[in-house]
Amino acid sequence: MKDVDTTKLSADEWDELNFPRPEANDFDAVVERAISRRGFMGGILAFGSGAAVMGTGLLSGSSAQAMNAANRFPFTPIDIATDFDVHVPEGYRWQVLARWGDPLFSDADGYDVAEGGPVAGSDRVFGENTDGMEVFSFRGHQLIAVNHEYANRDVNLPAAQDGTPANADDVRKLQNLQGVTVMEVREGDAGWEVVKDSPFNRRIHHNTPMTIVGPAAGHDLLKTEADPTGTASLGTMNNCGSGMTPWGTYLTCEENFNGYFGATAEPEVTAQVSDGFSRYGIGADGWGYDYHKWDARFDTAKNPNEPHRAGWVVEIDPTKPDSTPVKHTGLGRFKHENAEVVLAPDGRVVVYMGDDERGEFVYKFVSNGTYTPGGSTEGLLDDGTLFAAKFNDDGTGEWLALTPETTGMANLAEVLIFARKAGSAVGATTMDRPEWIRANPRAVEAYCCLTNNRNRGVKPNAGGDETPVNGPNPRETNNYGQIVRWRPHDDDHAADTFDWDLYVMAGNPNVYDNVYGGSENITQGNLFNSPDGMGFDSTGLVWIQTDGDDSNEGEFEGMGNNQMLVGDPVTGEIARFMTGPNGSEVTGLAWSSDRRTMFVGIQHPGGSWPDGTGLPRSAIITVTREDGGLVG
Ligand code: FEO
Ligand code: CA
Ligand code: CA
Repeated sequence: MKDVDTTKLSADEWDELNFPRPEANDFDAVVERAISRRGFMGGILAFGSGAAVMGTGLLSGSSAQAMNAANRFPFTPIDIATDFDVHVPEGYRWQVLARWGDPLFSDADGYDVAEGGPVAGSDRVFGENTDGMEVFSFRGHQLIAVNHEYANRDVNLPAAQDGTPANADDVRKLQNLQGVTVMEVREGDAGWEVVKDSPFNRRIHHNTPMTIVGPAAGHDLLKTEADPTGTASLGTMNNCGSGMTPWGTYLTCEENFNGYFGATAEPEVTAQVSDGFSRYGIGADGWGYDYHKWDARFDTAKNPNEPHRAGWVVEIDPTKPDSTPVKHTGLGRFKHENAEVVLAPDGRVVVYMGDDERGEFVYKFVSNGTYTPGGSTEGLLDDGTLFAAKFNDDGTGEWLALTPETTGMANLAEVLIFARKAGSAVGATTMDRPEWIRANPRAVEAYCCLTNNRNRGVKPNAGGDETPVNGPNPRETNNYGQIVRWRPHDDDHAADTFDWDLYVMAGNPNVYDNVYGGSENITQGNLFNSPDGMGFDSTGLVWIQTDGDDSNEGEFEGMGNNQMLVGDPVTGEIARFMTGPNGSEVTGLAWSSDRRTMFVGIQHPGGSWPDGTGLPRSAIITVTREDGGLVG
């Protein structure tokens, strides 16, 4: 642990460091299954009319040209980049809107090149590591709600040794820089800007009071000394992807919450709690934030139930700056990526969610009640049924209800608090790290980025479930990722069954002439790895953002920096639209209400982007057309 740069570890690398797992699967058998799956892939992947034809070969040059000549993309795709800048197609321009440390209020000191900013006022500035975001149009105001996922400790605490907090102020600063920003933005002569001191501006961070509601609220596992009711917690953390409800609220999703907790002594806990710690990766050392050494709330030796109060989906009303955010236990507790809300034909609320860890599950919530515009929304994200997905190899799938009866667990509260264990109990399909799920507004279908999984076919998941290659996860040691999509039966997102296929398998045809070369819609012009963020525009094109290996070497040669591409769900074509600075992940995507501006997040850039001096700063940029036209 001490001979690696822990400020550079990924989420899964931290988990494996703290909870090493044996390589459990038989490799020969895995290869055998993978080979047989290749035939299966070729057989089932004609999906709907004119869908992408999948396989292991390459498009010929003439096919690729024919694809480009006829496509719906209103731009000339760009080349890869390896520099420390952002690139967009000819005819488009980009500008920085908000950087980590930019004051949201005139009483905040703002950014300091050497120190990154003082602890005082660190909850009054735009936070670090921008991620999922949504735009809300409210009485003529454009409001952006945006996540600040985690802290780059070495950047946020440049004076601290290895980015390790040296005192309570350092911890408080990290806590303040993460969470959520709500801010008003407006378009002026010089482009878009944050409206400083807008009454809508708000920072929500690791110490903001929250209400816990739903079936698990008040359960003993959620009670702490500070909150004996189990209904009031502090803070939302590791806010990754986002969602928006039909009633105009923001959903922020708590992902790698486990990394903030540690223990100053061996926690005295029940076997149930200990099992939960193991499944969710809550260990003695945490991930280097060291909160537990300076803030007892994060010390599981003193507050063993505190981690149960994180890992939820949180609802925020961006139009009411004084409102208390709400943690919805009905949506289950896991490492939430995002929450995609759609309505069933009968008005029930359906929420699709992924659990981003190697070998974890895809979930769906279906409400009991129905949504009517202007009607009460009470219980619509809590009273209902949580399901986990089972993908069959024949291209069908089913949603498995997670209840005390189906799981053998004691009650619904425990099913929800330990949703991962519930998913394992019903035999849900282990997935290659489910990242964003988005629903196509032009068809009754949903897409999920399965970003990568080097443990596929190699190691079990954290619960001990084997992870053999399977239908939607067809490659062992999957370093490239794929996008699976499903169509619910009866055109009803609330249906219990669906058909699925792979929209794309990323790969590198310059290195491999087998399944690792990617599906047929991978061409020389669109090489990428590790799809992650995603969004549909109003025309039904799907925008794909990547968070992968940007070394441009070896298996990843020719892929360049992380990027944003756009895909046509009908033809399967994919074109590269944008590249981010080296070192960064492109994540977070939303449009202005007039669809003439696209807001895109650049997380953890390298170099000293975007300022050219001082520390690198994650930022939201705007992308517009030079002719003022629509961008989606
Ligand atoms: Fe925060 Fe799974 O990405
Ligand atoms: Ca992500
Ligand atoms: Ca990712």
